[in-house]
Amino acid sequence: MRPRAKHRPQAGRRRPSPAAPPAEPVPLAITRLGAQGDGIARLPDGAPVFLPDALPGERITARLTARRGDGWTAEQLTREADSPERAPPPCPQFGVCGGCTVQHLADTAYAAWKRGLLMETLARAGFADAPVAALQRTPAGRRRRADLAIARAGDDVRIGFNRRGARSVAHIAGCLVLDPCILALTDPLRMALAGTPWPQRAGSAVVNLTDTGADLLLEAEAAPDAGARERLIAFARGAGLARLSWRPARARGADAPEPIIQFRAPRMRFGDVVVPVPPGAFLQASPEGEAAILAAVLAALEPLGKRGGKARIADLFAGLGTLSFPLARLGRVLAMEGDGPAIEALGAAARKADMAGRISAERRDLAARPLAGNELAGLDAVVLDPPFAGAEAQCRALAGSRVPLIVYVSCNPAALARDARLLAGGGYHLAGATPIDQFLWSGHLETVAVFQR
Ligand SMILES: C[S@@+](CC[C@H](N)C(=O)[O-])C[C@H]1O[C@@H](n2cnc3c(N)ncnc32)[C@H](O)[C@@H]1O
Repeated sequence: MRPRAKHRPQAGRRRPSPAAPPAEPVPLAITRLGAQGDGIARLPDGAPVFLPDALPGERITARLTARRGDGWTAEQLTREADSPERAPPPCPQFGVCGGCTVQHLADTAYAAWKRGLLMETLARAGFADAPVAALQRTPAGRRRRADLAIARAGDDVRIGFNRRGARSVAHIAGCLVLDPCILALTDPLRMALAGTPWPQRAGSAVVNLTDTGADLLLEAEAAPDAGARERLIAFARGAGLARLSWRPARARGADAPEPIIQFRAPRMRFGDVVVPVPPGAFLQASPEGEAAILAAVLAALEPLGKRGGKARIADLFAGLGTLSFPLARLGRVLAMEGDGPAIEALGAAARKADMAGRISAERRDLAARPLAGNELAGLDAVVLDPPFAGAEAQCRALAGSRVPLIVYVSCNPAALARDARLLAGGGYHLAGATPIDQFLWSGHLETVAVFQR
């Protein structure tokens, strides 16, 4: 008798795996390197297994540790033989620190994997034929913006990145990604905090290396008392900070940070214009990353050069004007940004530079109220550089527009692919994409994508 259909395994559907990991080790064959940098293998029931520090082609005996989506995370027990593409990780903290996940891959293979992240994501979204440029590389040791975790247990204060696969903080004894000027702040800050009860348990330190020095914003549950402020001011003076501020941890984007001490006003130059930098403001991760993004954006807008400085461009998610000021050489720029202090700084810098006629700055939540309809009519180009979540509402509005050129700067290939589908639905063609590796040795990737109609 044939088994009844409901008892037959169905093609493409996995049997549900148990919730608790089996105790006995499992043999695994790694078939690919995932977007987070984990080697991925499959169990006989089809469930994926994610293994840190594992490469395609390697055969590994592992212990499953926890559920992840419809699969498992696992830890390696033994590895039969190394992949020929395995290389010694350059950082001694690799595997402990959660910052870099792919340092164990030879450089050529690493660059191919990084570019492949974009190609695969675009292909899955229906853009298999999109021209993807070679990966633009940026140097190590140049990250000028960092968001570091602070954890305290008594007098033991740690400042660093979250441990890989854990919630605890690994003190950064060294880091190949960060600018050494950021690294040099961590020990003095740790010692300053160890001498006070602030922050009580946890906090964070957002550092921006600006043109006038380091701007440090500390976040904690409660305000520092007078004693903590005194120690922090001594630390800031000794470390040569431009400014030190604090704000309540839960108030990101809500309460204004309170400066504790300012020795110099933090400033950045974008194009020919000097912009004041509010505490915790967004900067592109490295100067070279910023230069590569700007070069790709300007190359895409090159046809507007023929307009003799009369082009009309919208720069959406403009931040402090990293792109707006250089774009103003091509014509009039409408800069829009949701963060109040950032767009005020942009507008103030434009007025001070006598550019108010070329750049107009407007605060706007582009998720709730995207630029749409008549506002888009007459624009020669829209440049948008949204946060990690992408710009779904804005791309829906753009899809219905007649704007001939859209340049989309993305830090998240998945959001870019989703938004590209919206634009394609409105008749736009993905003319090309340039991947830029400004988040070294991680699964994060910057891309400049060009859409035309
Ligand atoms: C990736 S940054 C880009 C900033 C700028 N283009 C640059 O290159 O420095 C994204 C910007 O989007 C802003 N943003 C986030 N959500 C927003 C929203 N809903 N509406 C408008 N701006 C938003 C952030 O404040 C941030 O400045």
